[in-house]
Amino acid sequence: MDVHDIAKQGYQEGSFYDANRPSYTDEAVDKILELIRKIELPKGNAHSLQYDIVELGAGTGKFTTKLIEKLQSEKFLATEPSEDFVNTMKKHGIDALQCAANDLPLQDNSVKAIVGAECFHWFANVKSLTEINRVLVPNGLLVLVWNRKDQDVPWVDELLKSVESYMGDNPPPQYFDMKWKDVFKHVKSIQHVQDYRLQGIKFEGSADFLLDNLFSKSYMSKMSTEEKLKAREKLLKVVQKHHGNSSNIDVPSYTIIHLYKKIN
Ligand SMILES: C[S@@+](CC[C@H](N)C(=O)[O-])C[C@H]1O[C@@H](n2cnc3c(N)ncnc32)[C@H](O)[C@@H]1O
Repeated sequence: MDVHDIAKQGYQEGSFYDANRPSYTDEAVDKILELIRKIELPKGNAHSLQYDIVELGAGTGKFTTKLIEKLQSEKFLATEPSEDFVNTMKKHGIDALQCAANDLPLQDNSVKAIVGAECFHWFANVKSLTEINRVLVPNGLLVLVWNRKDQDVPWVDELLKSVESYMGDNPPPQYFDMKWKDVFKHVKSIQHVQDYRLQGIKFEGSADFLLDNLFSKSYMSKMSTEEKLKAREKLLKVVQKHHGNSSNIDVPSYTIIHLYKKIN
């Protein structure tokens, strides 16, 4: 499987990830389903359809569980490369196929919509986007969604910059630098349609709650215990500088959806 080393090392503890990542808002999931339900298949394509929705990088099922609750007659498949994450997802009663985005065991033109929650930056490469293009039907959608902490708020920015200082000399792919968008220049049949910025998920708790969430990031999660302790101390100081010992830190956030479409 073609998976970045930092993702391989950092996404091994499904239960920790699952306990410390937020879910997704009803508004975001409803919007995504509304967009998918509006897809008009070109005539003659219906017979080759295998799935209405395939999720890539489904992780431990944070988005998946929300989506599945709202499905009607749609045929759905979750996929995820990390074995431990797949096993954690099973505990939520969801069977995911273990595979990476660059090699999808699906037929050509057989999927109406592909969704990716907080993951596309990991496989924003020509091989994976070509694979996505291969399995999507013409007019099919690629829907990418991220929960974002609002870095326009100064204390959030300061905290996240401190976290980013642990990315090291070879930083892993990230959402915020938007470099993941470059790949669309190389696969011209997948085109940008629109972005939607929605209200974020409620994300509120103690400093420990916030730090546990930050340590579920791949590059934080792969640190040694000693490194984690040191980093935690430093990050705690940043949180306390702004919030003292509050147990109700409200983290401003938003949800962003980027919508792409396969043209013929
Ligand atoms: C930040 S997590 C998001 C997980 C989940 N979608 C969520 O919203 O919590 C990123 C996910 O992308 C997956 N991933 C990394 N590289 C991938 C690849 N090449 N193909 C598919 N998924 C990949 C990771 O294993 C991980 O589960």
